[in-house]
Amino acid sequence: MSGIVGYIGRHSAQPVLLDCLKKLDYRGYDSAGIAVSDMKTIGVRKEKGRVEDLEASLQLEPIPAGCLGIGHTRWASHGMPTVENSHPLCDEEARFYVVHNGIIENYQQLKKFLIAQGHRLQTDTDTEVIPYLLAHYDTGNFEETVRIVIPQLKGAFALAIMAKDHPNQIIAISYDNPLIIGFGSGEAYLSSDIPALLSYTKEIYPIKNGEMAILTQTNVEIKTLSGEKILPKKTSVRWNQDELNLQDYGHYMLKEIMEQPEAIKRTLKDRLTESGVVIPEVDDFFAKRKLTDPERIIIVASGTSHHAGMIGKKILETMLDIPVEAAIASEFRCEHGRLDEKTLVIAISQSGETADTISALKEAKKSGAAVIAISNYRKSTLARKSDCVIYTHAGPELAVAATKAYTTQITALVLLSIVLAKKLHGSGEGQIPALLDALHSLADDVEKCLVMTQDAIDQFAQVTNDQEHLFLIGRGLDYVLALEGALKLQEVAYLHADAYAAGEMKHGTMALITPGVPVIALATQEHLRDKAINNIKEVKARDAYVVGITTTGDDEVSAVVDEVLYIPEAHPFLMPVLAAIPLQLLAYYAGIVRGYDVDRPRNLAKSLTVE
Ligand code: F6R
Repeated sequence: MSGIVGYIGRHSAQPVLLDCLKKLDYRGYDSAGIAVSDMKTIGVRKEKGRVEDLEASLQLEPIPAGCLGIGHTRWASHGMPTVENSHPLCDEEARFYVVHNGIIENYQQLKKFLIAQGHRLQTDTDTEVIPYLLAHYDTGNFEETVRIVIPQLKGAFALAIMAKDHPNQIIAISYDNPLIIGFGSGEAYLSSDIPALLSYTKEIYPIKNGEMAILTQTNVEIKTLSGEKILPKKTSVRWNQDELNLQDYGHYMLKEIMEQPEAIKRTLKDRLTESGVVIPEVDDFFAKRKLTDPERIIIVASGTSHHAGMIGKKILETMLDIPVEAAIASEFRCEHGRLDEKTLVIAISQSGETADTISALKEAKKSGAAVIAISNYRKSTLARKSDCVIYTHAGPELAVAATKAYTTQITALVLLSIVLAKKLHGSGEGQIPALLDALHSLADDVEKCLVMTQDAIDQFAQVTNDQEHLFLIGRGLDYVLALEGALKLQEVAYLHADAYAAGEMKHGTMALITPGVPVIALATQEHLRDKAINNIKEVKARDAYVVGITTTGDDEVSAVVDEVLYIPEAHPFLMPVLAAIPLQLLAYYAGIVRGYDVDRPRNLAKSLTVE
């Protein structure tokens, strides 16, 4: 999983490439590199670490300036994050330079072939076979050579290629991995993602599967791999640059936590009406698929989106009378139960590009299942491959840790559950009026949560500084939320945080509770409160330090914990949205107090386009 950029135009390529790479570094930040052509020669520089390290190296020892180039920021999947394994990668004679995002699944086979032909490959990467194959099959015609090599590659990939003998061209290919062309006046850009382009252009064309783009100083041509010309249908992006700036915040993670009331309003806009919920996309889907009577629902997703899916499972199975399963996408794509045209799959992905989730979707479609996607990204691979898409409209999420993605996904799932309960006459129909009321005040409740918990959480986070372990416990939806709270603390604060169903502690994990160990006890589900209180007493009896999260005025919980955090009371289905706020804030402040880069946690990347 990595970020690719390209530039061709009248200006110096290097500053544009570096600027775009900085905006893509959420896709990986193990190493970065660029190749720049001055129309005669190609200069290359690669460095381990962030784009800023590459920039410093170029300042110290510049490469020749040129108006055309490609760049890459890497999340290491094949091979250590070394300079050698960094992109752009080239063949032994440095004839072709390639930047790649994705995975070449048959690279071992291709590598064996190339070695047998006498080539000496240098790196541990899957990417390296591409420049070597290009050099091996080079006909002297750049386009033709690319057309010979691409069909030999299996996997999902986006590529930008430069050739020593054609220093005035870039060829770009997208295959199940996004690559966007941006059009300027007399210049063109390439990027794995739209936000990196926004300060240069809003006119874009996402390259489609099986298309290649040939970029020269005067022209951008799109062709099929068999050489047919295509007229690209350009679109204008609606996002504005302000959404991408940090504004007054120190970190994107905090900015995105704070943006949640507005993000939720956008998810609800035009869907939550005075009298109910309308999602025209879902109506169309049911009309076209004639899926009047699904027998089961399977929600597939990864990471935080899977946690939203687990919340969705509990809500949907209460609202409908059919079995609902929430599956981890990477597991589901290998092993699953019955799947057929009576199965409705809900695939959730903020980026819409997560390889595990896309593979799960393909697996579902193979068996004739219908797929509704919940995504934040228009034209993402997930959106394009699904039968119907509900966009969350959360706005760009740039911190690696998902925050507003999660709460808007749950909001979308609640909306969907209302629509499905009506369509399928689920026994939860009776819940709809109360749920509608709660949805109308959800954004305000989230706002209140931010105000009520921010300072207290900041203080509690200081306590985590010298802790090794932390436990989160809860029952029902609180348990699922505890899983998400633990994931946030692991990834941002590098704290060993673990979540347990509160009733399960006594079956083993209680042995880990020692005096003073911090336990966050979630008790937001009214109907489970008594049992949750009993479980809190059990960990208190082992002298744990318990912080309770409950609804305003709940004296019973406050009486048994060391500290209490109150949040507003809402419909039980929406409590995981409200209670997520203090947990996200805790991860953020704990990460800060422990001295970590909360926006770019080690070893991670934002959207993982490898399985
Ligand atoms: C955690 C996090 C990840 C993502 C996961 C899926 O904070 O961000 O666990 O949720 O990689 O990403 P999407 O939703 O883009 O498919």
